[in-house]
Amino acid sequence: MSTLINNVGFAGDLFDGQTIVITGANSGIGLSVAGAFKACGGRVIAHGGRQCGPQLKEVADVCVTADFTSKDEIKQFVDTVFNAANKVDVLINNAGTMIGRFPADELTDEQYQRIVDLNQSSVVLITRDLIPLLSKAGTAAIVNTTSISARTGGSPGSSVYSAAKAFVAAYSKALARELAPNNIRVNAVSPGTILTDFHRRYSSEEKLEKTRQSIPLNRLGEPQDCAAAFLFLASHKLAGYITGQALEVNGGQLIA
Ligand SMILES: NC(=O)c1ccc[n+]([C@@H]2O[C@H](COP(=O)([O-])OP(=O)(O)OC[C@H]3O[C@@H](n4cnc5c(N)ncnc54)[C@H](OP(=O)(O)O)[C@@H]3O)[C@@H](O)[C@H]2O)c1
Repeated sequence: MSTLINNVGFAGDLFDGQTIVITGANSGIGLSVAGAFKACGGRVIAHGGRQCGPQLKEVADVCVTADFTSKDEIKQFVDTVFNAANKVDVLINNAGTMIGRFPADELTDEQYQRIVDLNQSSVVLITRDLIPLLSKAGTAAIVNTTSISARTGGSPGSSVYSAAKAFVAAYSKALARELAPNNIRVNAVSPGTILTDFHRRYSSEEKLEKTRQSIPLNRLGEPQDCAAAFLFLASHKLAGYITGQALEVNGGQLIA
C-alpha cells in the first residue's frame, strides 16, 4: 500500500469509519482515487473492472470484478455491496471507457449499445440500487466521473462516448436536487486529458503532444490530479454545501 499512497500523497482521517464504493478502480484514475480514500481512513469496496490486480488488492477491503455491459454482472456487483456493507457513505461511479473510436457513419448497433451500457446505463442502475444504502449513511455523497468531452463534444470517433458522458453530467445535476432531502450530495469530476491506459489505447503520441501544447499549465494530467477533486467533493467536512456541480480537472484546457 505504501507505494500507492506515497504516489497519491494523501493521508489522514477524513474518511474514518466511512464505506466507500468505487467502480473502475483497477487502473488509472480509479486506482489513484481508491488509494487516496484508503489513505484517508475509508473502507474501500472496489469494483476493479474485469479484473482486480495486485495494486488494487493492496488498497481495497473488498474487490469485485464485473463487466458493466452486462445487467446480470451489474446486479452481482450490487449484491456484493449489500452483503459487505449496511450503509454506503460515498459512491464513486468511475468505470467507463470509449471502447474504440467509431466514425459516426460506420458505428454498428452493437458498438453503440456497448458504449451506452457501460458509460451511461451502468451509472443509472448502480446509483438506483445503492440509494437505499446511501440514505442510511446520514450524510452521503455520490461523485460521478464525466469528461471534458461532455462539454466540448470530444474528438473524432468519440461522439457516442462524449454524449454518454454529457448524459451523466445532466443526470448528476438532476439527482442533486432529487436526493438532497435524503442528505445525499451529487457532484461530478470532469477530467481533461489524463495519462492513463485510456489515452494509451485511443490517442497517438502526436495527438497527446499537440494537446499538451494547448494546455495552459503545459502538461497532461496525472491520475493523482483527479484524486484530490474526488476526495474534496466526497467529503462532507470540506464540501458539505456543494451539490450539483462539476469540477473540471484539466490544467486550463477548457476555461468557460
Ligand atoms: N483518461 C482521461 O483522459 C479521461 C478523461 C475524461 C474522462 N475519463 C473517464 O475517467 C474514468 C476512468 O478512466 P481512466 O482514464 O482511468 O482509464 P482506465 O485506466 O482505462 O480505467 C477505466 C476503468 O473502467 C473499467 N472498465 C472498462 N470497461 C469496463 C467494462 N466493460 N465493465 C466494467 N468496467 C470496465 C476498467 O477496467 P477493465 O478495463 O479492467 O475492465 C478500468 O477499471 C472513465 O470513466 C473515463 O471515461 C478519462
